[in-house]
Amino acid sequence: MSNNVTFTKGSGIRLYTPENEEYIDGASGTFNLSLGYSHPELVEVLKQQVENLIHVSSAFTAELAQQVLDCILDEAPEHITDGWMRDIIGSTANEGAVKIANKFNGKNEVVSLSLSHHGQTLYTTNISGNAFRRKSFSNTISTKNAIVPAPYCYRCPFSAKGPGQCGFLCAEAIYDYVEYGSSGSVSAMVMEPILGNGGNIVPPDGYFEKVRQICDELDITLIADEVQTGIGRTGYMFASEHYDIKPDIITLAKGLGGIGIPAAAILYKPEYAVLEKFEHSYTSGGNLLSLTASQKTMEVVSREGFLENVRSSGIVLGELLNKLKENYPRIIGDVRGIGYMWGLEIIDKDGAPDPALTNKIIDIAFEDHSLILRGSRYGFGNVVKVRPALTATVDDIEEIYSRLNKIFSQI
Ligand SMILES: Cc1ncc(COP(=O)(O)O)c(C=O)c1O
Repeated sequence: MSNNVTFTKGSGIRLYTPENEEYIDGASGTFNLSLGYSHPELVEVLKQQVENLIHVSSAFTAELAQQVLDCILDEAPEHITDGWMRDIIGSTANEGAVKIANKFNGKNEVVSLSLSHHGQTLYTTNISGNAFRRKSFSNTISTKNAIVPAPYCYRCPFSAKGPGQCGFLCAEAIYDYVEYGSSGSVSAMVMEPILGNGGNIVPPDGYFEKVRQICDELDITLIADEVQTGIGRTGYMFASEHYDIKPDIITLAKGLGGIGIPAAAILYKPEYAVLEKFEHSYTSGGNLLSLTASQKTMEVVSREGFLENVRSSGIVLGELLNKLKENYPRIIGDVRGIGYMWGLEIIDKDGAPDPALTNKIIDIAFEDHSLILRGSRYGFGNVVKVRPALTATVDDIEEIYSRLNKIFSQI
């Protein structure tokens, strides 16, 4: 995608160049603009906060941090009643979650999924399911973790006949790793409810139940990395709630800041409140602008009708993308998603992944149709992500579809 274009203004799902050329962002920034560009209510409270006070040490923000945390916990799955607001990015929130699990159960290894992305600090690079980000750091990266197969039914690593038909061999692989691959000290399993960067992979029915059962059996803390799926992306405040994952810990970032203000949180069951303040906090963690943005975002997303709209418009988006697949069955192999979190798996004439065509689609979308879409190098690199801001209307969704239709007819 061309990066010669400069944007100087944004509103909702639309971006504008200095010459006032309009683009539609179908990927909400880096999937983090839950409320789109410059949502007026957020801009207003942030302006006010900037005028009043931009920063004080976290020693003086504890009360506000607790208020914001309470707003998030009000919407969290029932058993999740406590949390930590001293991060501003997903990577360190995930590290914090692993620290909590380690301290809680006294163990230290982590299991994660192939194709997963949990961040880019050295440790989260280590536990993410892709070699390309680790390659240059082999000297410094520890090997105390294991990657087990993702529930990628469309290209099942076990060649199962259909979703769930295999008795969840990918989940069963956790047993093998613990028995044969670990040193017997597996503390946590970290899992994205829908693998975001990895290709919008939605696990089959029954998968989460199986994973929860295995974690219980092996005394492993289950961490749901909801950095992408959290704060309404799936049409539910938390994917953990919708899929009934019952995690012990949930991490949040991206959408929590609403309009791109960095903000993160770690939520957990009460018995996981084991960290001392000095064990996980950062200079900008829980800063006033992050807390202000998170508080307002929670207020907007929790409003009556807001998530219902993402759910119902998400159905429309899914139907339109499936229609696109029907129109172009030799290019789109699979359409996966829920709410405003969708992916189109791009294939070649033999049904194999086609990353070159995927990148071409994204380029044509930008160059010829002023539509921003995202792919990623994860996995086969052949999934186009369609994830507009949660404020997108059905008209916006139809406009995205209409541009997609033109792009596919062009190729
Ligand atoms: C699922 C998931 N977890 C963690 C992260 C890391 O978050 P951050 O980039 O804010 O550190 C990302 C970022 O893309 C992500 O998608």
